[in-house]
Amino acid sequence: MSSVTAPPPSPAPTAQADPTSRGLVASFSSVDAVLKAVRLVRELGIRRVDVHSPHPIHGLDDALGLKGSPLPWGAIAGASLGFGGGVWMAWWMNAIDYPFLISGKPLFSIIPSLPVAFELAILLAAFAVVGGTLLFGGLPRLSNPRFRVPAFSRATNDRYLLAVDADDEQFQTGRLQPLLRQAGAESVDHIPVENPTEARVPRAIWMATAILLVLALIPPVLIAKARSSTSTRPRLSFVSDMDHQPKFKAQSTSRLFADGRSMRPQVSGTVARGDLRADDRYYLGREPVSSDALAKAPSAARLQPSALLTRVSDVDSGSPSDQAPPSQAAANIDWVTEFPLAVDESLIRRGQQRYGIFCATCHGQGGEGDGLVTLRALELEQGTWVRPTSLHAEPIRNQPVGQLFNSISNGVRRMPGYASQIPVRDRWAIVAYVRALQRTRIASSSDVPEDILPNLREIN
Ligand code: HEC
Repeated sequence: MSSVTAPPPSPAPTAQADPTSRGLVASFSSVDAVLKAVRLVRELGIRRVDVHSPHPIHGLDDALGLKGSPLPWGAIAGASLGFGGGVWMAWWMNAIDYPFLISGKPLFSIIPSLPVAFELAILLAAFAVVGGTLLFGGLPRLSNPRFRVPAFSRATNDRYLLAVDADDEQFQTGRLQPLLRQAGAESVDHIPVENPTEARVPRAIWMATAILLVLALIPPVLIAKARSSTSTRPRLSFVSDMDHQPKFKAQSTSRLFADGRSMRPQVSGTVARGDLRADDRYYLGREPVSSDALAKAPSAARLQPSALLTRVSDVDSGSPSDQAPPSQAAANIDWVTEFPLAVDESLIRRGQQRYGIFCATCHGQGGEGDGLVTLRALELEQGTWVRPTSLHAEPIRNQPVGQLFNSISNGVRRMPGYASQIPVRDRWAIVAYVRALQRTRIASSSDVPEDILPNLREIN
């Protein structure tokens, strides 16, 4: 269906003879016939012509003298507005209204703003096209007098209909009707004058709309009432999912216990089943200290004042030993030098994987202290970053395994402890892998299996 842009309406439609007619509709059975008729009508100088066809017709736009549609411009305008608005919105929200520095990244950057801008561009372009289509097409329109011409019912089926508007200056029923018949029209009918009541929205629809509007107000009113008043009855829960669970939230009260606390303190002098961590070698990485020795050795006691306690409570909760002055106090401790568990290839592989997850970010895959986080921190030059120690440094290489284990568990100076994140066995696995890593820099030919030795080349 196409429509012609109208020339300025003529002041006096001189030729309009019949006041009951809004124009003519001629029905054709072939594309060629309707195209020919269009050209003919336009040759008469008639401009207000329209063709209704069940399918697009090549060459029809030209024949009707249609100019290009303004819709693409609307789409471009909508898209530009959306894109610009999206970028502006991202900039204003992130850099002006709520600036939030994340890892030293710029507050505004075009690339992360693109998805928003892109979506908005699409949205507004679509709005422009849909809105433009309705606007230029004069829609929505409840009735069109052309529909009352019986032949029109086949416009979406197997007929091509040419409509000429009686408003056109050159329109003359007497001249046009025979001409259209001559051009091969099967029928030429008058378009009846629009009946004003027909164009009106039926009463029932107004009523239904009003009723629906009132009904739609009920839920918000109920919600507003529920939110502003109190009730002793439990709430309605249509889909309760996991809303109500028999549990206590942390730090909340409970009437179940006499002291009203929902969080229960550990019962003193007891160990939870399976939580006994009596093996200092395995859980702390050091030789067992007798309680007498602890009492006699104030420095060791200062380092681990709760050594006896930690043995029974959970070391894995990982209190960073901030009261522990580092190296020289650590040197007084009798760290284990042998792994307190069997070391085999699977343990080292596990350690390699865990190392990659927990340590490589800072220490680097090779342990040189050049992990990605480190590189980034050095690049930012904020002056707060302590470069991780190279795990190949001689002092670290000479540390007993127990001390390495302790460094992972409780941290060292600026390095945080990982006891709460890495289970004990995995910590030992990492130590075993660190040992393997260190070996890679100090190994000699005697470490290489005999059968591989001949394959090695010397490099400088
Ligand atoms: C957040 C970054 C970071 C992570 C992750 C990290 N470290 Fe460290 N590590 C450091 C820094 C920084 C130091 C140096 C601390 C100082 O000198 O204040 C250090 C020091 C060390 C030391 C030397 C301790 C000493 O006695 O001087 C060892 C060993 C070590 N880390 C092992 C590990 C292992 C194993 C992991 C993985 C479980 C790990 N680190 C994870 C930052 C990190």
